[in-house]
Amino acid sequence: MSVAEKVFVFLLQGVCCRKYSISLPEKIEALSGSCVIIKCTFEIVEDMEKELTESDATGLWLKDGTSVNNNLVFNSRDPKPNHFKGEITGKLHEKNCTTIFYDVNSNHNGKYYFRIESGALRYTYTKITGNISTINVIESPPKPTVKLYEEQKEVQDQEEVLEGSSVSLRCSAETLCSSPPPTLTWSSTPRILLSKSSRQQELISDLNFTATHRHHRVTFTCTITYQLLDKNKTAQDSITLHVQYSPKNTSVSVLPSGSVLLNYTWSRESEGHLKQLQTGDTLTFNRTDPKQRGWYQCTAQNKHGTQESSVMLDIQYAPQISTSSSCVSGDVTECFCEVDGNPSPELEWHLSGRPVTNSSDTFISEERLGSTGLRSSITIHQSLTHTSLQCVGRNTRGTASQLFQLNLSPLQFTEYQQVTVSLLIILMLILVLYALTVGLGIYKIRQLSTKLKAQNEAADTYASLQLSAPPSEYETLNIKRDDTL
Ligand SMILES: *[C@@H]1O[C@H](CO)[C@@H](O)[C@H](O)[C@H]1NC(C)=O
Ligand SMILES: *[C@@H]1O[C@H](CO)[C@@H](O)[C@H](O)[C@H]1NC(C)=O
Ligand SMILES: *[C@@H]1O[C@H](CO)[C@@H](O)[C@H](O)[C@H]1NC(C)=O
Ligand SMILES: *[C@@H]1O[C@H](CO)[C@@H](O)[C@H](O)[C@H]1NC(C)=O
Repeated sequence: MSVAEKVFVFLLQGVCCRKYSISLPEKIEALSGSCVIIKCTFEIVEDMEKELTESDATGLWLKDGTSVNNNLVFNSRDPKPNHFKGEITGKLHEKNCTTIFYDVNSNHNGKYYFRIESGALRYTYTKITGNISTINVIESPPKPTVKLYEEQKEVQDQEEVLEGSSVSLRCSAETLCSSPPPTLTWSSTPRILLSKSSRQQELISDLNFTATHRHHRVTFTCTITYQLLDKNKTAQDSITLHVQYSPKNTSVSVLPSGSVLLNYTWSRESEGHLKQLQTGDTLTFNRTDPKQRGWYQCTAQNKHGTQESSVMLDIQYAPQISTSSSCVSGDVTECFCEVDGNPSPELEWHLSGRPVTNSSDTFISEERLGSTGLRSSITIHQSLTHTSLQCVGRNTRGTASQLFQLNLSPLQFTEYQQVTVSLLIILMLILVLYALTVGLGIYKIRQLSTKLKAQNEAADTYASLQLSAPPSEYETLNIKRDDTL
């Protein structure tokens, strides 16, 4: 805008009642690969009204600056290949500058200034005379929000509701420009059929139902999907419901009223299936068995209809250690212990009577098996031939333990055998050598004695010869020296 223009604007604003102004959102988020809408309306000075005509009005967008030469990114009458793709959907002559840009990418990040041109009217709205918009391009869509309502009231922290209460899960999402518009979908694990209602305008989706034990620990996930040209972008939020059983309501609902004849059927639920057990109003267990733990459903029926209610049979029992628990030892000792109990047991390892914990040479890992089982494994990096290892399972109902015999492993046993065999061979060799030595000795002694015999026979002659021999000269000499002293 030239100085002359500025002065002109200033004069007009001073004289007139209506000023230049614009209404734009300050911050706009746009999904990369999608579109973005800038909601926009503007006002001009009264004297310029006659200039703003449908045939002349041109909307321009300047980005990161107000120079028409350098910062122009869009011209509604003169699209350029290097400009942003889009259109002004508002009617400019009605002062509606609402604009949509397509194929949004990171180049769209920035500050946007609107400029109106129509005849003598040429005006750029800046912070001083109006407003500017900042577009922030994001790669993934914002997450939707799932809220839980029980009897129309929002449930805050614990996602806990009472069985029989009316529950509503509301998924709401902020929507970004997209064609086709984004959609909300519900999914649950395990799959449960629920009635849902959606309101596309605000992008809200409600899941309304009456809480039953079937919804206990079920995770409900709400997903927002943007269908873009090359791919779908999604974001999700989930909630896991905890349904509390209320025995009072249930027992009332199955009481027969007056003389109405009711037929009762008891069934057991497992993995979503119902297995009929017996008829009659009472289900009795003569001996309880941990296997009988679970949900039981009672159905009361008469000609007017049926009613059903469920009850959880929770059988508590002391821990039991599975016979499959075992140890393998070698350079390292590795033992597994599997314990089952209700309430779910805790497991401890004892080495020579002392509890062991995770350390540099001992590694313990645990894994829950269902709601009652626990499997623990211990790996000990030291040789353990003279220590006892014990696995101890505990819950409020009792304690169970198993002692592991740390026997030599099969590998070590063969080594041991080999050592024994070698020792035996060496021993035998020693024995043989000894026997040979002794035998040879005896033989030699025998040989010697015969030789001696023969020698003894000849010895007499030799002795006589010696005796007959004259005294040696040496002896004689010695005697002589003695005389001289
Ligand atoms: C401006 O035009 C858009 C259509 O592009 C419309 O949705 C919006 O309601 C209009 N705004 C006003 C204030 O008329
Ligand atoms: C679901 O429940 C909510 C609030 O509890 C309510 O506003 C909404 O109208 C209900 N929707 C249907 C389809 O019943
Ligand atoms: C996007 O989702 C729609 C509907 O779920 C599906 O029909 C389409 O094939 C998906 N497109 C891609 C690219 O995955
Ligand atoms: C032992 O440590 C490992 C990893 O550091 C961990 O996964 C495991 O749960 C620990 N065990 C116990 C009983 O704390």
